[in-house]
Amino acid sequence: MKYGYFDDANREYVITRPDTPLPWINYLGSENYFALISNTAGGYSFFKDARLRRISRYRYNNTPPDFGGRYLYLRDNEDGKYWSPSWQPTQTELQDYSCRHGMGYTVIGSTYNGIQAETRYFVPLGENLEVWQVTLTNQRLTSADLSLFSAIEFCLWDAADDSTNFQRNFSTGQVEVEDGVIYHKTEYRERRDHFAYFACSEKPSGFDTQREAFLGPYRSWDRPIALERGRSAGSIAFGWQPIGSHCIPLSLKPGEQKQVIFLLGYFENPRDQKFDPPDSQTINKRGVKPVIAKFLDKTNVDLAFDSLKSYWDRLLGVLQVHTPVEHIDRMVNVWNAYQCMVTFNMSRSASSYESGIGRGLGFRDSNQDLLGFVQMVPERARQRILDLAATQLPSGGAYHQYQPLTRRGNNDIGSNFNDDPHWLVLAVAAYLRETGDWGILDELVPYDNLSESSMPLYEHLQRSIQYALDRLGPHGLPLIGRADWNDCLNLNCFSEAPGESFQTTTNMDGNVAESVFIAGLFVLSTREMAQIAERYGKPGSEAHSSAFYSKLADDMTNTIYEHGWDGEWFLRAYDALGQKVGSSGCEEGKIYIEPQGFSVLAGVGLENGYAKKALDSVNKRLATKHGIEILQPAYSRYYLNLGEISSYPPGYKENASIFCHTNPWVMIAETKVGNADRALDYYLRINPSAREGLAELHRCEPYVYVQTIAGHDAPTHGEAKNSWLTGTAAWNYVTITQWILGIRPAWDGLQVAPVIPADWPDFTATREFRGVTYQITVKRTGPGNNINLIVDGKAVDGNTIPVPKDGRKTIVVEAILK
Ligand code: BGC
Ligand code: NOJ
Repeated sequence: MKYGYFDDANREYVITRPDTPLPWINYLGSENYFALISNTAGGYSFFKDARLRRISRYRYNNTPPDFGGRYLYLRDNEDGKYWSPSWQPTQTELQDYSCRHGMGYTVIGSTYNGIQAETRYFVPLGENLEVWQVTLTNQRLTSADLSLFSAIEFCLWDAADDSTNFQRNFSTGQVEVEDGVIYHKTEYRERRDHFAYFACSEKPSGFDTQREAFLGPYRSWDRPIALERGRSAGSIAFGWQPIGSHCIPLSLKPGEQKQVIFLLGYFENPRDQKFDPPDSQTINKRGVKPVIAKFLDKTNVDLAFDSLKSYWDRLLGVLQVHTPVEHIDRMVNVWNAYQCMVTFNMSRSASSYESGIGRGLGFRDSNQDLLGFVQMVPERARQRILDLAATQLPSGGAYHQYQPLTRRGNNDIGSNFNDDPHWLVLAVAAYLRETGDWGILDELVPYDNLSESSMPLYEHLQRSIQYALDRLGPHGLPLIGRADWNDCLNLNCFSEAPGESFQTTTNMDGNVAESVFIAGLFVLSTREMAQIAERYGKPGSEAHSSAFYSKLADDMTNTIYEHGWDGEWFLRAYDALGQKVGSSGCEEGKIYIEPQGFSVLAGVGLENGYAKKALDSVNKRLATKHGIEILQPAYSRYYLNLGEISSYPPGYKENASIFCHTNPWVMIAETKVGNADRALDYYLRINPSAREGLAELHRCEPYVYVQTIAGHDAPTHGEAKNSWLTGTAAWNYVTITQWILGIRPAWDGLQVAPVIPADWPDFTATREFRGVTYQITVKRTGPGNNINLIVDGKAVDGNTIPVPKDGRKTIVVEAILK
């Protein structure tokens, strides 16, 4: 069954039936105000932090699965029938339903009984509000007497408290209504300086702000009493559940069209100007009123929408490609880049799988996400790097997570995920290659956010490496700590009590369990440090010279050859008892993907044939038609010495699913050994657009990557979960653009080194890089990957185009592949 199609020209995915296998969502907002919106207008909004400043309420894990949203109802006052133009919550059968998810906006439209309704939802740039721009058209031959009802349920700000602490929060809710604008001001009387508002461009005939008055007792959102009655109750919420609902009477002549604008917004007042008059308890609305007035005006709203479009044109314009494969073009040019920006904004906090009250920003995750968006928003990437580095500890280790609102590390999860510090090195290296901004290394950044401890960022990077050197195990491999990239390989945990956190429970001293994956990561990060030190190294710092880091990389490579090689593939780890993990000698979990992909992409095994062997083993033992599994054979029971990984039933998540984040490492590794066909084949197996035809099996959105696809041990092999917020986005973007298409920022220029199939005749690309536009044409004249570059008509040695020193702004590159 088809649920929609890609509209490539408009950069939209168009969903053509509302009952998608799962809610197919989109994100609104790009700076401080964010919203999730599903194809039936479900979802919620928040300011900066999904947990602490939740504006509207949403009920996760509900039935139907998507519950709570930006609901509109239309009522035909002639016969009293009402419906939801976005299908939910009334689920009335609609004609011409469509949902267009675009770049930072969503348009949902439908027709019912000759009344066409289309709503465009977006967050204007620079504003802390969302617009619902509703266009209604009467296609009947007679006049229509309608009422348009809006409905939003407010969250009492702290989303965790809101869904648990009822003894208090059933008594705290407060609102004000003035000139048809509904203000939600729970806790404004005390320590909050912010409130939410819900406004409408038409004069409402009535409103409701108490949920029960609007719905009626024992009713749900699909049949509110206010709709049945045809009028609002004018309720004012005291405690219980504050909502916002307007009732707008509309009479439309045959063929007539009308636009109604709703605004849902967030506003902060200076602490000493909260009330007006000052000695009252009434919100001071002097600041917010001009904002409301501005965006209730259609012209301003249209202009704001145009700016949003230009903003995305600019971001996506950084790299545009035209290749023989449409799934590559639409992912690279639109959706994969877009998803990378969403992971920048959300990290792992708010999606259909992340409740927004949990994880904050992950250190490891955010550093990897940066690899996928640094080229679009370099200044913001710079700030993100400095924020992340500030949560590093003096030891060089890092808080595993931090809350964006406070920028403080989360104490409940703490540190000791021993891979964490390396990702900072990779992120900074990517930033430097993209921007050439070496000055960032001199920025003074505190440890643990304590300003007196500030040190240049470069020193943070050095400590990242030192952290690993201080924690080497019996074989000279890095100790794993609580976990490495695989959060579920908990080798020091040994947990027997249900409910204990696998990530924070530690029953072993941690001095034995080692990670071959971190060893590969160490090789990569020390190689990057060698490059950085060569260009940045200060005289007199021989102890940390380029040669010092190169030697560390060489030594660790040898340690991997000696203690991390199993004969046909790389081992995964040694557990707390010194036993091998991911070895042919193991009963289950004989081979893991992570050390194969990552070691090879770090260059390990290229010189002695291990790389090719390891990749062949991956192909033979882990590759399925839906992607490459994380390990095999799946763990069929719980292993005390391995932890959470064996808590999942076979085929799911870290226990032998296709954990998509790791697949691109193998693809890059395949390009390193020159195997273009395999790299591209793997790429297409998990590419969401290429899986669009499998929608009923795949179930998740066909326009974004997922974290996990059920492996062949699972009864639902091929079924995807955890869409949107996953490192899969950044790594696939890096893989296809930098390693397969081969257009990659290098230290001193832009490199062009494609590893593409022999049957590709050519492709073209435009890349903005350090202020210059590169127009690249790659042409094949022979079957290999050897390259001749012609830059602005002149042949150039090697595969790197130096950044022009003569002020040229456009450079024409011809690359001949032989
Ligand atoms: C999941 C991991 C995730 C971790 C985060 C685990 O339950 O399986 O994928 O990284 O939780 O804490
Ligand atoms: C998801 C986490 O966000 C990420 O940090 C981790 O690497 C993977 N799961 C694998 O466990």
